[in-house]
Order: sequence, then structure tokens, then C-alpha cells
Amino acid sequence: MIKTGIEAMSFYTPHRYISLATLAEQQGIDPEKFSRGIGQDKIALPGQDEDIVTMAAEAARPLIDRYGTDGIDTVMFATETGIDQSKAAGIYVHRLLGLNANCRNVELKQACYSATAALQMACSYVARRPDRKVLVIASDVARYDRDSSGEATQGAGAVAMLVSADPKLLEVGVVSGVFSEDIMDFWRPNHRRTPLFDGKFSTLRYLNAMLEAWRDYEANGGKSYAEFSRFCYHLPFSRMGEKAHRHLAKSAKADLDMSLALPGMEYNRVVGNSYTASIYLALISTLENAEEDLSGKSIGLFSYGSGATGEFFDATVVEGYQAHLFKQLHQTILEERMAVSYEDYVELWGAPVAQDGEELIFADEARGRYRLASINDHKRIYVDKHA
Ligand code: CAA
Repeated sequence: MIKTGIEAMSFYTPHRYISLATLAEQQGIDPEKFSRGIGQDKIALPGQDEDIVTMAAEAARPLIDRYGTDGIDTVMFATETGIDQSKAAGIYVHRLLGLNANCRNVELKQACYSATAALQMACSYVARRPDRKVLVIASDVARYDRDSSGEATQGAGAVAMLVSADPKLLEVGVVSGVFSEDIMDFWRPNHRRTPLFDGKFSTLRYLNAMLEAWRDYEANGGKSYAEFSRFCYHLPFSRMGEKAHRHLAKSAKADLDMSLALPGMEYNRVVGNSYTASIYLALISTLENAEEDLSGKSIGLFSYGSGATGEFFDATVVEGYQAHLFKQLHQTILEERMAVSYEDYVELWGAPVAQDGEELIFADEARGRYRLASINDHKRIYVDKHA
């Protein structure tokens, strides 16, 4: 059988963040509630000239620079934070990256889950067409109402994955377990910029979906719990991953070893929720922060999207994967960020959105190569600073 999976992957997150210690101080609550209770330290904040398209292009650029555009004939863009009801965000990214015109583009939606559907479909496609590659992108801005319980679980980021029949990082397993149920735990009607959610209910349904997906994975002939060296979870906040890992270990009647899941939480703790990108940020974090060589080891992954769909699947780390990581770049992106004051956060959060065709011109603030320069006549104008 043809091996398919992730040839390379990279992430991007904006250069501004607010520390949750600042938010806690402002709200007069114990900062430990955020650092320990929900397991988060920082929330990434996009500026006005950044959005899912600019973050996606930034995340994908290193892949294109290192591996080229040859063979890429499909872009699958997964997001909860779509910028248009009709046009796929990936079309802008396709142009910004200079991809071949003979390429299909599509956007996928199912809350935080859809990048996993994209990854699975991309693997199936390249198994049929091993000469082709798919660029799978997950990009989101997790934005909750201020002073809501979700405020501390905001964040922003994008992950790009090159999926091919030459997986240099991870071979994605053929077996997976899936589960869906029609519930209202987190949703966002078209007229809203922030979601409606039932926080406690959502965490319980997440855990239930994980066990249902795990049982389906087992029934379909998946690996046993003991065969996994690491676990990655969708991380709306890193403590959710701890809860998930505890729950799964208990259900598998295994001894709890949190160190199997912790390396995957390092980046998410300082980026915040990035919805579709979150589990793949955890996967990058696992590979880049592991203390040992993970070659040949199996990673179990649980992807969750409210509403709800969950999927448990596995990936095997490929020998020599270290040479295909972007660890230095990622650590630089995280280290060179700047903290903003509470007042600046409030201003950024409340920045105006274009109403009914009016013109908005944005200051050049994005640190990356790509930016949203303006919105005019209902059109978003993206700029490549190197062009
Ligand atoms: N020191 C240490 N821990 C403290 C503390 C302190 N001083 N004060 C409180 N805590 C602990 C609490 O005991 C609690 O721990 P447990 O979960 O073990 O009970 C934890 O901190 C959180 O405290 P609360 O339950 O009081 O927090 P909250 O009411 O503010 O809600 C939340 C937390 C439900 C996660 C909320 O942030 C939220 O609704 N977030 C958005 C929804 C969400 O992320 N849901 C996740 C599942 S859905 C999904 O995954 C899709 C998605 O991406 C949205």
C-alpha cells in the first residue's frame, strides 16, 4: 500500500499577545485560574492588517520555499473564521504563494474539526495520485466576547501541511474512529463575529466524543493505547488536553502518564486557541519539543469540532523527520512577539469592521511578509511586501 501523510508542516501566529496575568489582574481574579485552571499563559492577537489569509500564507511560505510548488494541485483551507460566504480563502493564499494555476481550491467548515477531514481526504487523494501533493491549511482567529468565560480562551494561528505520498514527517494511519452528534455546545450564526457557547457542556461533550471516536477506532482495528508514545488533542485550552488524556487513559485502563501529552501543549499554552489549527499546532509542538528521538513512534490524535464531530486517528513518525522541521523558525516567531497592555488589547479587539462597502485602509503593522492592506467596495486587498 502507498504510504501517505505529512511531508512537512509549519505554523504562524501574530506578533502581538496579551498575557493572561494582565487579564487576570484587570478582572481581579487569581492568575492561577488561567495558568493552572485552564492551562494558558498568553493569547495571540491579530492586528487589523492580519487575518486567516495572511496567517495562512505566512504558515505555508516556508513549505513552499523549501519544497517548491511542484505537484501541488489542491489547496484545502479549513477554518471556522471564514471571511467570505462564497469565495474560498485559499484562493487568495494560492495567489500570494504563487502556486500553479492548474490547482483546485476549496474551503472546509466544521468548527475546530475540519482540518482533520481535509488531511484525511488529502491522504486518500494522494494515494490515488501519488505524483500530486495537497496543501492543507488550518487558520483561525478564536474571538470570544469580552468579559465572557471564553475570553481567556481566545487566540489566533495557522498551520500549513504539505500532504503527499512521500511523507517525510508523519505517515498518517489508514484506520480512524469517528463520531458525530447534533448538539449546541459552541456555534456561531452567520450574523455574529463571536460564538455562542455553553462552556461546561462543551467540555463534557468533547470528552464524550473522544471516547466514542476511540471506541470506533478500536472497533475498526486501530492500535492499542499501549502502542502510542505520544498523544495530541484538540486544545481549546491546554487543560482540556490534560482532561482528555486522563479520561482516555482511564477508559483504556492504563496508568496515567501525562508526559505523553505535555510536549504537545507547549506552543498552545502561549498561542491560545486556534480552532482548526490547534491540534496540528499541538502536533508540531510534540515533534519539536520531544526530548527523545520519536522516529518510528506512534502518535494518537483526537480532533474535535463542536456541534459536533470527533475523530481519533494515528500517525507514525518517519525516520529522519528532524531534518524536515522548522523548529528554529517557530521558536523565533514565538520569542520575538510583544506583549500588549490591557488598553491596547481592548482597542485591538474593538477595531472597526468594514460596513456595507465602506473603505478601510490599514496601517502596515504585520511583521510578516503578507498583510491585508485595505477593504474597499466589499473587496479585501492583500499585499505581498516582497512583490
Ligand atoms: N487556581 C487554580 N485553578 C483554578 C482557580 C485558581 N485560583 N480558580 C479556578 N480554577 C480551576 C477550576 O477549578 C476549574 O477547574 P476544573 O475544570 O478542573 O473544574 C478551571 O479552573 C476553570 O474554572 P471555571 O470552570 O470556573 O472556569 P470558567 O467558568 O471560566 O470556564 C471554560 C472555563 C469552560 C473553559 C471557559 O473558558 C469556556 O467556556 N471556554 C470556551 C469554550 C471552550 O473552549 N470549550 C472547550 C470544549 S469545545 C471545543 O473544544 C471547541 C472549541 O475549540 C471552542
